[in-house]
Formats: sequence, structure tokens, C-alpha cells
Amino acid sequence: MLPLEASLPELRAQFPALRRSLPDGRPLLFLDGPAGTQVPQTVIDAIGDYLIQRNANRHGPFLTAIETEGMFATAQQRFAEFMGVTDPDEIVFGPNMTSLTFQMSRALAQTWQPGDEIIVTRLDHDANVSPWVLAARDRGVQVRWVGFRPGTLHLDLESLAEQLTPRTRLVAFGAASNSSGGLNPVKQIVEMVHSVGAFAYVDAVHLGPHRQIQAADWDADFVVCSAYKFFGPHVGILWGRRQWLEQVAAYKVRPAGNAVPDKWMQGTQNHEGIAGAAACVDYLQRWGSHWGNIPLENRGQCLSAAFAAIEAYESQLTRQFLDGLAQLPNFQLIGVGCNANTPGDSSGQSSSPSTAAEHWSSNAGQRVSTFSLRHKTRTATHLAEALAAQGICCWHGHYYALELSEQLGFEPEGMLRIGFVHYNTPAEVDQLLAALAALH
Ligand SMILES: Cc1ncc(COP(=O)(O)O)c(C=O)c1O
Repeated sequence: MLPLEASLPELRAQFPALRRSLPDGRPLLFLDGPAGTQVPQTVIDAIGDYLIQRNANRHGPFLTAIETEGMFATAQQRFAEFMGVTDPDEIVFGPNMTSLTFQMSRALAQTWQPGDEIIVTRLDHDANVSPWVLAARDRGVQVRWVGFRPGTLHLDLESLAEQLTPRTRLVAFGAASNSSGGLNPVKQIVEMVHSVGAFAYVDAVHLGPHRQIQAADWDADFVVCSAYKFFGPHVGILWGRRQWLEQVAAYKVRPAGNAVPDKWMQGTQNHEGIAGAAACVDYLQRWGSHWGNIPLENRGQCLSAAFAAIEAYESQLTRQFLDGLAQLPNFQLIGVGCNANTPGDSSGQSSSPSTAAEHWSSNAGQRVSTFSLRHKTRTATHLAEALAAQGICCWHGHYYALELSEQLGFEPEGMLRIGFVHYNTPAEVDQLLAALAALH
């Protein structure tokens, strides 16, 4: 049994929401992680503790203001560890990834000139598309689009290579798709982007709960994520290279200083949320310390151990789910996986269990445990409502990955999205498969 699986009863007991049930007593099954995960008690306690003990504004000489400053410093340290960087001053907090991206896009756009170009993708969540498209419109800058490959729905790197020119100023792309669950080779893409001297702006929101973010190793310029996707409260986090955070002019009020990162944090932040966000990194590190048998002081290593355990466990859930799905020919998997009914997949693979397993192993490492499905006859709305009636929580629609859904011709109905995170169990996968089979 994998280390994480062995810890499941204790781990799940830390999440009060996992004890929730329908009015008739049937337990709720949370497969809505891609839109927001549940939180452990330590995160809830950190939020409460901040409000009870330390609630104050920053930069004051009195006890609670000084403690608030300490909380900020700790949170920046935790998120430097989470982003895989060493300088805590490169961590900027904000309301959410979308607001941070609108803010950064406006600021960066001031450095663009007519004739410049930027690149966005048809795979991304719109929060990494519209802020850039609107900023380009305001500055008279041309927007180029990169699509995805049929079948796997991975980003089309050949198209990216063709569209990169010395005029490209920025490429905005995702580390993992919140729709297909596909992973992008971030490091390789950053290298391509840097070869023409452009900025790489990486949306790691969907990667956050599943794999370790490695901003420094990727050599990215900016990486954004959101704590509510990885077991924390609703707070957004932006990492930017110190050089860029210092050089680029921020839209800010006059009394706010010019020091990094404060110049990028507009107004008073959600202090209790930031305290909770730091606690969600601590939650992951404590489990990593346990699974990897590593002292908690080595927090970076603990985080790596946590994500190694999470990846191994979620891969097991993925295989279990895809093997089961291969038996349900009325369902079509949208993206990388084992289903012969994948749109645009010309491989002609059969969905027999042995072929499915083979196909799965060749695709291992290319996806996280997020799945978009379509049914031959039933709408996504119908599927989501039928599952909800049984206490199975999952989303349907385009989930703001609007271009992808439009390009595949799925609008306005969209898809059904199933998301497994590390607190989901093999029994829950079976329960879902049985519910899907009943909808056959
Ligand atoms: C991949 C991805 N990027 C960006 C966002 C937007 O994040 P936020 O809600 O923090 O603005 C989401 C939210 O669903 C997402 O899944």
C-alpha cells in the first residue's frame, strides 16, 4: 500500500468537510477539487487564531501589528518554499489569480509598443487569456494564439515555435489544464519563450494541488497560483523574479512604498486568509515530513516528499478511474487517457482493458487526476445533476477554459468535470464509476 493510502483515515479526519452528508445521511463525495478543495482543521484554526489573537494592520509599533508583520514574513517564506524559490520577497499576495493577472498585465503592458506581439493559448483558463488580450488591445499590440493537439489536447508546441518572433514580448500559458488535466512541459516552453527574449507567465493554479511548482527550476518570469485549489482559503499568490518586480512600475497609491513586494500588494490584504494559506503549505509539509521521514526544518524537502506521495497516489486513482471508464463506451474522455472515444484521436485504439492499461502507461506523467467527460446522449448538465442527487459534487460547463470548449464545439453545454485530489479514496472512485455506469 502506498504511504499516502496508509495515512488516509488520519488524513481525511483532518478535513471536517469530509464528514458532511446529504439530509438523508448519504455522505457527500467531493470531486469538485478543480474548482476549490476542502481545507484541513489546521487551516481553519490558523484563520481563527489570526482573527482572535493578531487582527491588525501592518507596519505599526504595537503588539498585534508586529505579530501581523511576523505572520506575513512566515507566509512569504512558506510560499517561497511552495513556489520552489529562495527569496520570500518575490512572493506577492492578492485576492485571487485573476486579479493578480489583471494587475500584472496592465503593468507589463506599459512597456509594450505598437508592433510588439504577445501569445496566449486556446487551452488556458480565461484568467490567463483575457487580461492579456485586453492589455494588448489597449496598447495596440498583436495577439497570437497557440492551439492544442487533437486527441491529447496538449499544447501545440510546433505552433508555439512558429509564432515566437523577436517581436514577442510575453507568452501566457498554463502548467496544467483545468479542463483536460493535461500537463505542459513548462521548462521546455520557458526555454522556447526565452530564446526570443520574451517573458514566460505561467498559470500554475491547476498544478498546485497535484505537483510541486518549481518556478526557479522552470526559469519562469512569473508564476501564479491560488491557495483555495490546494487546501487553503481564497487567496491568490504571484511569484515574480525580483528584477522584474523591481523594474516594472506598479499601479499603486502614493503612500504605498516602492519596495518589493509591497508595491505590488494593493490596499490592505486578506490577513486572515494569508495566515490560512501559510497553514495549508505547512499542512502539506507536515505530511511530507511523515511520508519522507524528513525533519520538518527541511521544509523544501518535506514539500517534495509530500508531492511525490500525492503524485504516486493520484496516479493510482487515475489508473483505477480510467480503467473503469474504458468499460463505459457511452462516455467520451476529453483529453489524454485511455478511451478510444477521445475526440480527434486517430489512433483507433480499442477500449479493452489490456489496451487501456497499455495506453495508460504510455501516457503516465502527462496528466493530473482531472477528467472532462461527455456522454453520447446525455447533457453535461443532466450528468452533473444526476450525480449531485446522489451526493457526488462535480462541475459541468467550460469552467472558464472557454476557448477549449468552443474549439471542440461543446458550447454552450460544455463537459462534466471529475477531479480527484489526495483526500479522495479508491472506494470513492468505485462509487463514482458505479454512478456513471447507472447513467449509461
Ligand atoms: C487553471 C486556472 N487558472 C486560473 C484560475 C483563476 O483562479 P482564481 O479563481 O484564483 O482567480 C482558475 C480557477 O478556476 C484555474 O482553474
